[in-house]
Amino acid sequence: MNTETRIGAEELRQSAIDVLKLNDLGTMTSAAPNLYPHMWSWDAAFVAIGLARYDVPRAITELRTLLAAQWSTGMIPHIVFSENSAGYFPGFDRWGTETAAARPQGIMSSGICQPPVHAIALRHIVDRGRENGGTDQEAAESFLAESFDGWLAWHRWLAEVRDPDGVGLIEIHHGWESGFDNSPRWDGPYSRINPGPVEPFTRRDTLHVADASERPDDTEYTKYLWLVQQMASVDFDDRAVQDIIDFRVRDVFFSGIMAASSAVLADLADEIGRAEDASELRGYARRFRNGVAASVDPGTGLARDYDVLAGEWISTQTVSGFAPLIAGGDPAALAVQRNLLLGPDWMGYPELRFPLPPSTSPASAAFRPRTYWRGPVWPFLNLLLGWAAKRDGQRELFETLKTASLRQLADLKFGEYYEPFTGEPLGSLNQAWTAAAALEWIGSER
Ligand code: SER
Repeated sequence: MNTETRIGAEELRQSAIDVLKLNDLGTMTSAAPNLYPHMWSWDAAFVAIGLARYDVPRAITELRTLLAAQWSTGMIPHIVFSENSAGYFPGFDRWGTETAAARPQGIMSSGICQPPVHAIALRHIVDRGRENGGTDQEAAESFLAESFDGWLAWHRWLAEVRDPDGVGLIEIHHGWESGFDNSPRWDGPYSRINPGPVEPFTRRDTLHVADASERPDDTEYTKYLWLVQQMASVDFDDRAVQDIIDFRVRDVFFSGIMAASSAVLADLADEIGRAEDASELRGYARRFRNGVAASVDPGTGLARDYDVLAGEWISTQTVSGFAPLIAGGDPAALAVQRNLLLGPDWMGYPELRFPLPPSTSPASAAFRPRTYWRGPVWPFLNLLLGWAAKRDGQRELFETLKTASLRQLADLKFGEYYEPFTGEPLGSLNQAWTAAAALEWIGSER
């Protein structure tokens, strides 16, 4: 590496740290300064990965805060609200979780979940702690021991409550649970929802972006709020929600993360002498890996979601189709997926600013380059794909993602998502998990 690139990396690192400090609320990091002034579950996991590169104790605090919001069922909620209620809608008062029996007292949270990336973050914390030695190592190892039961309960809840029939795919009850809010993946299921009366609302998200078309539209929001109202009407009781909710989809990408994360947690279980739990977690890893593999459309090579209420597979050209690369599994099947990912409909699409996968393929009729999950490139997702590539010994894919990501993030804007052809940062700037991704990419090349 030449001197110029080195200086670039140091500047990027310092700017990324500044962004995490800017978002630091003390014991939690807001996902973004204005658009998301609270803690989001899977954002927090990536943030912890970034924090662990320069401050292991602060990374531990991040996961500890999230875990303190875990429900008695085992669910980890997708938002832990800070005291700053002004900037975001729907805030705690709109969620209706106040009377939910399983919510921990004194902590304000939403009533749905997000993909379980947390064990992967925990692995990073333990690894950084051991590299640093001394008090960082002690803190990381004691946090592993202290928090293990919480993570295990989280994975158990997902396996038992969200995949009660053991098909190896996690069922979600809101597009927000996928994290891919308005992806074309959910167009079919949402098109079949006829919302009942929704209490009047004023959105705040559109105030924080340059152009409202970068966000979901009002019709979509009405349905999002309708689903929240449905859940609140039964006090977020797991069984009751499943009976009444208008959105029931088996999310393949969530399931891919469940597989990968369960395998990671199994290794951590072994390290602290929890052999029986390790074997249970390896069972989850196998089950969800198989479920993800079985969803692959032989025609397109992409993994699919399943719409439970319509009784049909959902075929879209979205990046979630690469769930098998996250889940891991049969090397031959993964090689086919890697070729597809590097091919002309994805990372090899000729007009891309950087060879990074758009959230929806530009070759798809559903592709919209500036709209949230309908086309833009998401930096945190590239980090996750890179992590999985490294795990599987795929240096070439890892290096390609790393080099392109570092070039993309050298704009020092830390965009929430990026326009695939121009490289323009979109959504919120100074997004915490984008800064965390930069720190991890830089750190992992040392
Ligand atoms: N991602 C959602 C939002 O944009 C909430 O989870 O507000």
